[in-house]
Parts: sequence; C-alpha cells; structure tokens
Amino acid sequence: MAVLLMLRRAHRALRGTYLDHLPGSDAPGELVHLLRDPFRFLHERFERHGNVFRTRLALPVVFLVGEEANRTVMLTRRDAFAMGRGYHLTAVRRVFEGSIMLEDGEQHARTRAVLTPAVGHLALRESSDRVHAIWSRMLDGVDRVGGEDCYGLAERGTFDVAANALTGLDLGRETESFRPRFERLIDGIMAPTPYRVPLGRLDRAMGARAELMRLLRPRVEAARRAEPSGLVGQLAHARDADGQPLETDAIIGQLLLLFWAGYDTTASAGAWVLHVLARRPDWQQRLRDEVRDRLGTEPVGPDDARALPQLGCFLSEIERMYPSALFFPRVTEEDVSLLGHTLPRDTPVFYSPYLSHRDPEAFDHPNAFDPDRWDSERSPKRARTALLVGFGSGPRVCLGKAFAKLQLRILVAEALRRYRLEPDPGARFTVQGLPVHHPNGSRVRFRPL
Ligand code: HEM
Repeated sequence: MAVLLMLRRAHRALRGTYLDHLPGSDAPGELVHLLRDPFRFLHERFERHGNVFRTRLALPVVFLVGEEANRTVMLTRRDAFAMGRGYHLTAVRRVFEGSIMLEDGEQHARTRAVLTPAVGHLALRESSDRVHAIWSRMLDGVDRVGGEDCYGLAERGTFDVAANALTGLDLGRETESFRPRFERLIDGIMAPTPYRVPLGRLDRAMGARAELMRLLRPRVEAARRAEPSGLVGQLAHARDADGQPLETDAIIGQLLLLFWAGYDTTASAGAWVLHVLARRPDWQQRLRDEVRDRLGTEPVGPDDARALPQLGCFLSEIERMYPSALFFPRVTEEDVSLLGHTLPRDTPVFYSPYLSHRDPEAFDHPNAFDPDRWDSERSPKRARTALLVGFGSGPRVCLGKAFAKLQLRILVAEALRRYRLEPDPGARFTVQGLPVHHPNGSRVRFRPL
C-alpha cells in the first residue's frame, strides 16, 4: 500500500497536471530558458502571468512573487512551507547533509536555538577587529595600476573572513590548504542529481567533504579544551536542549554550511557594492563624508549601524536590486490558498527576492538604483524595509545577517577612506544569475586619495 502511494505521488509530481489550474506553462525547454538567461526568464513570466506562476524545471514548480506571497511563505503560513524538502531532489542535500538548512519544524528550532548565540557572537568586537584587519590588508594590496575584478576581490576577502573570523583558520598555509577542498565541495552543489556517481561532480565534492571533516576535527576537539572563543569555540561548548554537548561531526556539518552561507553570498554583495560605487561618484562622496564625520579615523565597529544611516540606505538598496540569490525553494506540506490560487500539498515552490524587489506594486521606479528611497527625510514615501527579503524573513531569516552587514560596512568604509573608485572603461562585464548573482568581468580602478 505504501509503495502504491509513493508511486502515485511520484507520478503526480512528474506529470504536474495537478498544477494545471495555475497560470503559466510547463512546456518542455523551460529549464533551458532559465539556465540561458534567468533574468529574462523570470521577468517574462512574471509580466505575463503575475505573482503566482507555474513552470517546469526538472519537475513542475511554482514561483511566488511579491509581499503577500513572501509573508505567506516566511511568516503567516511558514509551517506549511518546508525548506529542507525544498532541497531534497538537489545535490545540496548531500553536500550540506546534517546542516540547519535541511531541517524543518522542531528539529530546525532546536538547531537554531544552539546556532543563534554562537553566530550572534560573530558580530561582536573580537571578529569585527579581524574582519577590519583582513579588509584593510586586502585593500592596501589592490592593483593600483591594472585595477581589480570586483567579484574576484570580494571573493578573496570574504573567503579569508569566513576562514579566519568564522572558522578560526590561520590565514596563509592553513587557509590555502582549506580553499581547494572547499571549492570542490561547493562545486558539488551543481551536480544534476543527489546521487553519487564515481568520479562525478558530487563524488568529488563528497571526497572533499571527508577531507575537510578530517582537517577540522582536531580544531573542534582543541576548542572543547580551551575557553570558548570564536564561532568554533562557541559551538564546541554549546549544549543542546537536553544539556548535551554537540557531537564533533555535527558541529563540523554546521560549520561547513555556515562557511558557504556566509562566504558565497557576502562575496556577491561585496562585488555589487564595489561595482555600483565605482559608477556612482555622488554616493562615494556622500558615504566617505558620512564615515569621516561620524567615525573620524576609527574603524567601523559592530555598534555603528545607527551612526551611518546613509550607508545603511545604500546597503538596503544593494540588497533590493542585487540579492545574492534570485530565488529559494520550499515544498508545501499541505494545501495553501494564496492570492486567489490553491497550491496543493507537495508542490515545489520558489519565493523570489529578485522579482519581489523589482515588483512595481511594491517599489516606485523599481529598476532605478536609489538609496534615498530608504531615507524618511529625503523621500516623501519611504520604502518599507519589511519588503526586503534579500536575507529572507521570519524565524528562518539569515542567521548571519548582522555579521554580513558589518562586513559590508567595513568594506565600504575602508575602500572609501583609501581610494576613489572608477569603472575600468575597457572592461566588458556580464551578470551571472545562477547559482549566485554577481557581476562577471567588472573591473574597478582604485585611485589613491
Ligand atoms: C550578504 C550576505 C548574506 C546574504 C544575502 C544571505 C542571505 C540569506 C537568505 C536569503 C537566507 C534565507 C534562505 C531561505 O529563506 O531559504 C539565509 C539563511 C541563512 N544564512 Fe545567510 N546570507 C548572508 C550571509 C550569511 C552569513 C555571513 C552567515 C553565517 C555566518 C549566514 C548563515 C545563514 C544560515 C545558517 C541560514 C539558514 C537559517 C535557517 O534556516 O534558519 N548567512 N541567508
């Protein structure tokens, strides 16, 4: 009986006729269109079908766009949208097995209660000094003649931050031996299925995962014997709801996810920050003046968000126009009514920060980069931060949001204290949408002040 039910479910999922009542199309070739030009794919379907539309990737899926949809998925009906199951048919499930991202319900709440204080610790003075030192060194060393590729520079800086400030690795040899293995691990995410084929992408990634576990085990064991310091120390001394310490491999499973979640996304945001600053000398000057007037020569610290309101508006606008991921998956756990449609149970759905942030219903002139829209003194109709979902929202909002924003404030302040940024007029850039949204080939020149 159970087998029959499973087969019926699989058949239903594959055919997708249970979604025929929704606007959209499941014509063959949709996946090819998405991979070829994800921006065009999303805009065309949103314009044609509205806030709820179905399409067919490997399986039929439904995209949900806009404020009402986001609130339903992440807040009001969040228990009806499983996140872990959203990754079930992808290689992410294998690469980051045992991590918070793949959990739901009670289990997720328990893990989140353990990780929140440990990750929250990262946004404190100790790691902010490290982040400041890493970005200062990185910016002092930029190529002042040839310029730098925005994404390349952001990626190097955020990798060092994740390795050192997050994982406690020594910069230099230790980080360098970690890097190729970690790159092999995250390459596995793009494997087409969660099944391991010898010598395939996922197989190499799982091999890298085993090596990373071996590298990190002694570090976690040492942290258990020392005073709790840094993220690894906090996790090594953390207790679960039953008062038990976490197992070493469980800690490492979470650490690898935190590393990825913190590094790839922040590299994308950092690259957009540099790309946009170079094209907006007016905003460079405003932010440079603000940092100088409010902080003098002091480094940006964890409590300085309020002191730098214009920088806050600038970063909100980066989050709005250039979210690090275009969409995130969920699977419905029960029937859900949304915007006049019914999403049947077991429907794979995506909520989309990218499309939601470009929705003209939510934002005036959504395609214009205008940080002043977030400033109540400059804008008669201040945009509502509740409309931003670049870090998610609700009980699953990004755990590292404060840390990521701190790092971006440090990057902007240290770059503008040293340089005037200009786009390299000879550079041709493209925009990559998947798996992470960032400029490719955008070069910036750094003119010392
Ligand atoms: C600019 C940088 C970042 C961006 C744009 C970002 C974005 C996001 C988003 C959109 C989600 C929710 C995903 C969903 O709803 O499916 C999320 C979750 C998460 N993020 Fe971030 N993130 C960033 C940096 C970080 C950092 C620095 C860390 C860790 C130190 C981190 C750790 C996590 C974790 C653990 C989750 C899962 C939370 C849960 O499921 O309860 N992120 N992030």
